[in-house]
Amino acid sequence: MAGCDCNRRGFIKGAGAALGVTAAAGAGLTAYAMKKTWDPLPSVVAAGKVIVDVSGMEEGQLSLVEYRGKPVFILKKTGDMPSNEKRDVVVEGNRYTVVIGICTHLGCIPAYLPGESMFKCACHGGEFDSSGVNTFGPPPKPMVIPEFKIEGGKIVLGEEGPEYKKLMAMA
Ligand code: FES
Repeated sequence: MAGCDCNRRGFIKGAGAALGVTAAAGAGLTAYAMKKTWDPLPSVVAAGKVIVDVSGMEEGQLSLVEYRGKPVFILKKTGDMPSNEKRDVVVEGNRYTVVIGICTHLGCIPAYLPGESMFKCACHGGEFDSSGVNTFGPPPKPMVIPEFKIEGGKIVLGEEGPEYKKLMAMA
């Protein structure tokens, strides 16, 4: 799979490569904004769980956290991004996309293109919308929503809360 780093342990490197793809396609200012959004959120790792404080995120911001050795994308949706009742994670009235950032085709790490509000996989051109749903190319299904629960302004990855169960029941 040339053109991507599909080693999941090395996903930070892959994320950097993904950023490079975006930077090449966009303006320098966009690249700077992306660099900022890739900075990790405040998070705590304990007993297989990752507790992520999303209360400080801005609309349109994408962050990346590591969860059980995998990249997890957390995107705070803007008002312009379509709602997806089957996938949106609602925290304190705000909608988030929370997905394991691994392409469902052959496992590359897609890049987020903020100008187009979509994720694009450099390996074979697969595309996912702002909810992580496959919309084009070979990916056979949406990116996976990891187990989560909501505690105030925090998302706890690694626990199945009622909000997660509700989404899974609708999937
Ligand atoms: S691995 Fe993503 S499109 Fe093939």
